[in-house]
Amino acid sequence: MNTKSTNTLDIAVAGGTGTLGRHVVAELRARGHNVRVLSRSSAEYRVDLTTGEGLAAALAGCDVVVDAANSTSPRAMRATLVDGTRRLLAAERAAGVGHHVCVSIVGCDRVPMPYYKIKTAQEDAVAAGPVPWTIVRATQFHELIASMFTAMARARVLLVPRDVRLQTIAAVEAAGAVADVAESAPRRARVEAAGPQVTDLRTLTEEWRSATARRAVLLPVPLPGPLGRALRSGGLTSDDPQARGAVAFAEWLRDAERRK
Ligand SMILES: NC(=O)c1ccc[n+]([C@@H]2O[C@H](COP(=O)([O-])OP(=O)(O)OC[C@H]3O[C@@H](n4cnc5c(N)ncnc54)[C@H](OP(=O)(O)O)[C@@H]3O)[C@@H](O)[C@H]2O)c1
Repeated sequence: MNTKSTNTLDIAVAGGTGTLGRHVVAELRARGHNVRVLSRSSAEYRVDLTTGEGLAAALAGCDVVVDAANSTSPRAMRATLVDGTRRLLAAERAAGVGHHVCVSIVGCDRVPMPYYKIKTAQEDAVAAGPVPWTIVRATQFHELIASMFTAMARARVLLVPRDVRLQTIAAVEAAGAVADVAESAPRRARVEAAGPQVTDLRTLTEEWRSATARRAVLLPVPLPGPLGRALRSGGLTSDDPQARGAVAFAEWLRDAERRK
């Protein structure tokens, strides 16, 4: 007997164990959907986007796929994000999936960094692919910025490029925007999710130092060239995002420190 209600979707979340993906999984389950967690270490649906292993079985009967997988390793990022997207889309097409939701980054086509070039190529593969799609571009997660500061502080120096403008968002709030899109019809368009305010990286660094009480010297450094110009001119921020988070970095940090 098919007990699926008309509003309940079968949704696969590739990268469902990651920083964003685990919140997407929790949010979609809380909304009553049948959610499958796909990743190399998933206990439920073990898949590898770099080889295609496990995808056919994981996607059978799925209505929607959210791709929240990621790799920042120079050796694996193209294989995971671009070639992996093509493999995922081919498997989705074979399984009759009706909506591919790709998670990307606000301004990835404006800021000249190797990882962002790969993200732009991933978006192009989605837009040219065989499955109806929506791309959700998010700004940097509070979690990413905090983990960068934690890593730098081990050397007791926080190197801060001058006048970089960011609009960070809590991963849980970005996940809410991704879940909204996964429940909607494909738009064949990009939508943006951004944090509540545009802030200078230096301010974020000071907020992190004060919330964590870590002793590390803040060292402003110049960032010359096109990359510096793009970051100073707000290339990673969104003027008019469709979804705007409510929790600013300082407030998120206070909560994160309390939970430790
Ligand atoms: N981090 C940010 O600040 C930020 C901001 C905006 C947008 N985004 C975008 O959001 C998405 C998710 O980023 P994230 O920071 O949440 O990533 P993350 O924490 O690094 O998680 C990556 C996920 O991908 C899975 N994965 C990695 N390689 C895989 C492979 N070969 N096959 C299958 N699964 C694989 C990982 O699980 P296993 O290791 O178990 O395979 C994990 O579940 C990315 O598209 C990223 O560009 C990130």
